[in-house]
Amino acid sequence: MYVPSNERYEKMIYRRCGNSGVKLPVLSLGLWHNFGSITPYETQKELLRTAFDCGINHFDLANNYGPPYGEAERNFGRLMDEDWRPYRDELFISTKAGYDMWPGPYGDHGSRKYLISSIDQSLKRMRVDYVDVFYHHRPDPETPIEETMGALDQIVRSGKALYAGISNYGPEQTEAAVRELKRLGTPCLIHQPRYSMLDRHIENGLTDVLRKEKVGCIVFQPLAGGLLTGKYLEGIPADSRMATDSRFLKPGNLTEENVRKIKALKEIADGRGQKLHHLALQWTLRDEVVTSALIGASRPEQILDNVQILSEPPLTEEEIRLIDEILG
Ligand SMILES: NC(=O)c1ccc[n+]([C@@H]2O[C@H](COP(=O)([O-])OP(=O)(O)OC[C@H]3O[C@@H](n4cnc5c(N)ncnc54)[C@H](OP(=O)(O)O)[C@@H]3O)[C@@H](O)[C@H]2O)c1
Repeated sequence: MYVPSNERYEKMIYRRCGNSGVKLPVLSLGLWHNFGSITPYETQKELLRTAFDCGINHFDLANNYGPPYGEAERNFGRLMDEDWRPYRDELFISTKAGYDMWPGPYGDHGSRKYLISSIDQSLKRMRVDYVDVFYHHRPDPETPIEETMGALDQIVRSGKALYAGISNYGPEQTEAAVRELKRLGTPCLIHQPRYSMLDRHIENGLTDVLRKEKVGCIVFQPLAGGLLTGKYLEGIPADSRMATDSRFLKPGNLTEENVRKIKALKEIADGRGQKLHHLALQWTLRDEVVTSALIGASRPEQILDNVQILSEPPLTEEEIRLIDEILG
């Protein structure tokens, strides 16, 4: 039987999510990779236990995480029964719908039909009565924002989710979604965009909107899927994502420009006596508009490694300036 560490809340830092009552750990764990059929079930179990023991009480899923689609939620459901049910009230669990999930016109995008059917499926797979956040996973230009946000509002009002969120929405789409949710009386708790030293697009307007609207922000892929660990500088390690599950991370992602940046960033990290990926995580969290950095892990040791940033000195203004020069 799993007995969590008594010290699980001692080291983690929790930030308020926008102007809500919710605080999230500055590091959260995503189940996109390593929770499908490729990874041994026992590893999955250890990943979640290790995270929770470190105070990472926020687990992020989506309907189509796997492979195959739905498998991460199914495995999570099994783990819910085996480990997590006694701790449900300490956990913050999210899922999403918005990408392709099942065949036909109702298993993709942003219709009320898709979102309501999808949350019902997710709750069954995850063996929970509700999730804490339900996200629309990506904007759908063909469905009126009123319909998509109306579905999120209905999901919250029916108790299937406690909060509504959006992911991958641009600044103007975010403003429209936030406005509509406000009108409906279900505020937008959180936005989930991609953000790392290799992808700063959210600085071109989105973070301004989130700050102004007081919406929380959890950034995904803060390590660019592992590129920002530096592990690919000397080739492709056999136990790495690029070698074992290259659906989304391919040698083509290692552009000359990225390699140049990673090498230069590593020098800054070396100068701080720090690992490159620790620098990368601290950098994404340097502005409190970011509530949490949403990491992935293939091994429990990576989680133990990453939480070390909590006791490492924050970046100085000068280091942030030098990093800006490298990133351009
Ligand atoms: N909303 C969206 O559209 C969206 C899209 C993508 C992701 N997400 C969310 O974001 C989460 C994180 O995505 P991600 O897994 O790509 O994020 P990431 O944190 O950028 O990359 C995680 C990978 O980096 C490597 N890594 C992490 N810590 C390490 C360490 N200490 N030492 C060495 N390698 C380390 C591991 O890869 P190896 O396999 O090489 O060990 C790990 O699987 C997902 O699970 C999901 O919840 C959301």
